[in-house]
Amino acid sequence: MTFLYNAWYVAAWDHELKNDSMLSRRLLDKKIVMYRDENGDPVALQDRCPHRFAPLSLGCLRDGEIECGYHGLRFNAKGQCVGNPHGNGHIPKGASVRKYSLVERYSALWIWMGNNEPISDAIPDFSFLDPKTSIVAKDYLHARANYVLETDNIMDLSHIEFMHKSTLGSSAVRNAVSEVSQEGNTVWSRRLTKDEVLPDFLEEAWRIPKGTPVSRWMDVRWDAPANMLLSVGAVPSGDAPRTGNSTYIAHFFTPETETATHYWFGFGFPKSMGDAGYERANTAIANIRKPFELEDLPMLEAQQENMEDQSFWELKPVLLAGDAGAIRARRVLEALIKDEASDSA
Ligand code: FES
Ligand SMILES: [Fe+2]
Repeated sequence: MTFLYNAWYVAAWDHELKNDSMLSRRLLDKKIVMYRDENGDPVALQDRCPHRFAPLSLGCLRDGEIECGYHGLRFNAKGQCVGNPHGNGHIPKGASVRKYSLVERYSALWIWMGNNEPISDAIPDFSFLDPKTSIVAKDYLHARANYVLETDNIMDLSHIEFMHKSTLGSSAVRNAVSEVSQEGNTVWSRRLTKDEVLPDFLEEAWRIPKGTPVSRWMDVRWDAPANMLLSVGAVPSGDAPRTGNSTYIAHFFTPETETATHYWFGFGFPKSMGDAGYERANTAIANIRKPFELEDLPMLEAQQENMEDQSFWELKPVLLAGDAGAIRARRVLEALIKDEASDSA
């Protein structure tokens, strides 16, 4: 599988980009350097000097421009070479690096790496992560696994019964009513358990009296390439499902390479919750990191290793009822990648 280029990917959380330093990251198998210009606006450039291909991120930032750390060529935020300390100072033709669109939205920095004009509205709605209105708690994991395996993981939450026994799962999950739907290229994978007694971990987090049977919803919205919104909550059995408060969790996956993924996840709670909201957000992010890091991540990495160099479909995966949403998302992504390849051919 090759990547979808004309799409928005998360490149960093907003707080990762400082005013006075550069951040270098491999995204879609390309080295990108990011920083903030003098106005604080985010900038993303190819992290490769056109002279001898040194990473620009090993140079230094001076007045919103990067000075290459090898022979001192200087590049502005548009990627144009604007200073040559050698000879008569002439700027050689072709002395530029590619600039990428980098947009700050929903506490994240979104990069567009395709050749088409970026479509600003195409960033899916994650307004619950808007720092103006929400208390946002953010975290990051790196996975040595393909990013679509990560999509499978979130779209098919039937796995929580087996992988997250002590934290997120229960034996009621296998009997959850699941539904898959699609609107345009957005895919929904919804699950609803009935008469479920939640594990202590969730009863405590959601302040549900111990042993109360509930209906729990776990609804995932997927947008290409791999940006997901998970909405979860529970009401006592017998109450109309999905009527209580939902907790929202964003899962953003960006390929580092074909077999490695950047994983950003975050909660947002309304600012109106005040101090309680900060406490809730900090506790939620610290708690959720444990199953993600200690249970999902080792399995994802072991899956990737086990696939050796074969593709998902070459291995003829067995399909189960619970993975319909994941498969739908794969199909949409594959179609988008195919369209993009035929448009550029
Ligand atoms: S490699 Fe950048 S100036 Fe020489
Ligand atoms: Fe999981």
